[in-house]
Amino acid sequence: MNKKFIFSAVLIVIGTMSAFAQTNSITIQEPSNIVINKHIYGHFAEHLGRCVYGGFYVGEDNKKIPHVNGVRTDVVDALKKMKIPNLRWPGGCFADTYHWKDGIGPKAKRPKIVNVWWGGVTEDNSFGTHNFLDMCELLGAEPYLAANVGSGSVTDLVDWVQYVNFTGQSPMSDLRVQNGREKPWNVKYWGVGNEAWGCGGNMKPDYYANIYRQYATFMTDSKDAKLFKIASGASSNDYNWTEVLMREIPLNMLDGVALHHYSVIDWNKKGPATGFSEEQYFTIMSRALEMEELVTRHSTIMDKYDPKKKVALVVDEWGGWYDVEPGTNPGFLYQQNSMRDAMIAGVSLNVFNNHAERVRMANLAQAINVLQAVILTNEEKIILTPTYHVMEMFNVHQDAKLLPLSVRSNDYVFNNQKLPAVSASASVDNAGAGHISLVNIDANKSQEISITLNGSKFKNVTGRILASDKVTDHNTFEAPTKVQPQQFKDAKFENGVLKVKLPPVSVVVLELK
Ligand code: AHR
Repeated sequence: MNKKFIFSAVLIVIGTMSAFAQTNSITIQEPSNIVINKHIYGHFAEHLGRCVYGGFYVGEDNKKIPHVNGVRTDVVDALKKMKIPNLRWPGGCFADTYHWKDGIGPKAKRPKIVNVWWGGVTEDNSFGTHNFLDMCELLGAEPYLAANVGSGSVTDLVDWVQYVNFTGQSPMSDLRVQNGREKPWNVKYWGVGNEAWGCGGNMKPDYYANIYRQYATFMTDSKDAKLFKIASGASSNDYNWTEVLMREIPLNMLDGVALHHYSVIDWNKKGPATGFSEEQYFTIMSRALEMEELVTRHSTIMDKYDPKKKVALVVDEWGGWYDVEPGTNPGFLYQQNSMRDAMIAGVSLNVFNNHAERVRMANLAQAINVLQAVILTNEEKIILTPTYHVMEMFNVHQDAKLLPLSVRSNDYVFNNQKLPAVSASASVDNAGAGHISLVNIDANKSQEISITLNGSKFKNVTGRILASDKVTDHNTFEAPTKVQPQQFKDAKFENGVLKVKLPPVSVVVLELK
């Protein structure tokens, strides 16, 4: 054999091997009976910085910004388009300092309090229970009220439930009518405290389990509202918290157990929201991808006490947390939102979809102007962030049937560390259309994917993509549409297999018919 031939043969073998190494594969099964609960796509509005004031609410007398009863029309339109299914309020840490009676009745008489957790600013209580619940009606979103357990009382909570839900005559429903609302709002979702292990009272799990049992005992259903009670849950990998709650709280008193997980580099050195390095990007992605293990392990504990999966895992705070924008109040947690955040959203939502049997609600922190926001506002201006676009693209999965899948992914390698580059989830909706959401977190490499769909008759594929030149790219008030979804053309069926090519740092949602 001559030398030239051997050299060419070696090159062909290497070429073939690297071609194999570059092809990711996904196998999608036939529909399961598991429904992806639309509430996985929920949001969170705390009295923190400019989330409520300036974000959602600009005051009934505002002449500059179009509004309905003080709630911004641009925000309502955008959130409706995104299909916001629920909104958690009023905190967060603020919830355990909030006395709901301060926020009802004539505004001039409402007490002004100090927002001790967030910047020590004066809270004038001009946005209260009526404003929030009426706003949820405007948004077509279910309200999720977080009750004050840390510094409140059982009586306060019993009164709040009665005020918003009771139809007949009672001191609280009479007061509601007197304050201008005849019909009850029938609020279903109730959080019994927030972060009880920390800002909600620094409690130990056994102690909180008892407190939960006490509060839950007196929270009564009404004619049209069967309450869904959610226990304050663990921080990230505090598995003992979930274990104790599941062990100590009877299943008939519990509908959901919460979990909070933020993607943060280091609580003392978070790094900027834009202009970050690849190392910072990689670290944040590894934090975001921890969600898979967290959800799996908390679910396994829940399975032990609740094999029929009656109790939902409610990830009611999640998202990226960075340094505040330079020159802004450190207590307001205002941060920009880049393609990195789109990656966090994409991989997290894929995890929630794939675990839909147990994860039946989640709330991104937070909706507007705080942490990983979907909307940023500056007076009358508004930006839809990359995270908004992911939430809007993924809304096709809301209440659709999960298509279970397995992914074989190439690695995204940085400094000899690796993460899976590709993540995915899939569903089929009521009209029979299939949807596959794909994320490539690799900052440098495109990923080719072969998707096999077992037992499916889909023939046509269309899609949308969110991508940009750099992972640090983001929308600004000067260039609000720099990052926005485009038509996706790199997907086609070849001999029944779906072939897709994802550029670096991209989110794609395919529709199959
Ligand atoms: O979302 C910001 C804060 O993070 C919330 O108030 C608290 O629950 C969590 O620690």
